[in-house]
Amino acid sequence: MCKVISAISYKGGVGKTTSAVNISSYLQMQGKRVCTVDLDPQHNLSRHFGILPGHLKNRPTIYDVINAAIQEQEDRKIEQLIKDCICHSTTVDVIPSTVRLSSLEKVIPSITSCEHLLDYILSFIKNEYDYIFLDVHSGWDMFSINALTASDSVIIPVEAHVLSSDGINPVENMINSVRRRLNPKLKIEGIIITKFQGNTKYCQEIYEVVENEFGDHIHIFDSFVKYAIKVAEASAFGISLHEYAPRIAPAKAYAQIATEVMQSA
Ligand SMILES: Nc1ncnc2c1ncn2[C@@H]1O[C@H](COP(=O)(O)OP(=O)(O)O)[C@@H](O)[C@H]1O
Ligand SMILES: [Mg+2]
Repeated sequence: MCKVISAISYKGGVGKTTSAVNISSYLQMQGKRVCTVDLDPQHNLSRHFGILPGHLKNRPTIYDVINAAIQEQEDRKIEQLIKDCICHSTTVDVIPSTVRLSSLEKVIPSITSCEHLLDYILSFIKNEYDYIFLDVHSGWDMFSINALTASDSVIIPVEAHVLSSDGINPVENMINSVRRRLNPKLKIEGIIITKFQGNTKYCQEIYEVVENEFGDHIHIFDSFVKYAIKVAEASAFGISLHEYAPRIAPAKAYAQIATEVMQSA
């Protein structure tokens, strides 16, 4: 059965896209069938997998599928469109986005059952995957609400920085609200501490704040993702960390987190 997982945070730059790329890539390397969906008009996930806007001139993106669903086109057309969107990369499959996606944000709320649009679209490909990862923009918009409505679980990356840990409360509130009104089965997979500089007292204190405030009811992955320039380099080269630098600590942390994700119900 397919599991849909969203990477969500209130703040930007905390490692959502990096986590989605490296967890999904590791799962694929373990033989799982994995698709990632870029729901961010800034298309960072597409870029992380080496897919640039220039590659997408003559092929549909998530924009076209959501737009077709808004126009209430027939199911078989939506199914064909979403399948045509899938870029089969050397690692995971990718449904890319471009900046055009942002133009739909104001249109989505005007349609019936607007929060369930993505859930409906993904139903056409769920049979083909073990995992689908959704990468959204920071903060709350119709795409993040749709992602949470379509998801079985959520990962919450938190940068080891005091301003970032402040962002967990709004995420939890949002998840609770979606659970109550739209998707009662939504679970929190866990908090991932990212960009951790373990040798600093400051980072250790941030971890303790997160642990004290959330550790009793949200799982915090034991494997912190340390800060390393190779993480940023891998994304610039359009490949996962497991291919670029599999021996460094952040690659091992993402491998461990992905293993926990595989083991969780
Ligand atoms: N562990 C890390 N060490 C160093 N740089 C990182 C790490 N994790 C993420 N980055 C870099 O930080 C920036 C923001 O990460 P990103 O995953 O795009 O965040 P978000 O999707 O939450 O906005 C990117 O340039 C990324 O390469
Ligand atoms: Mg991102």
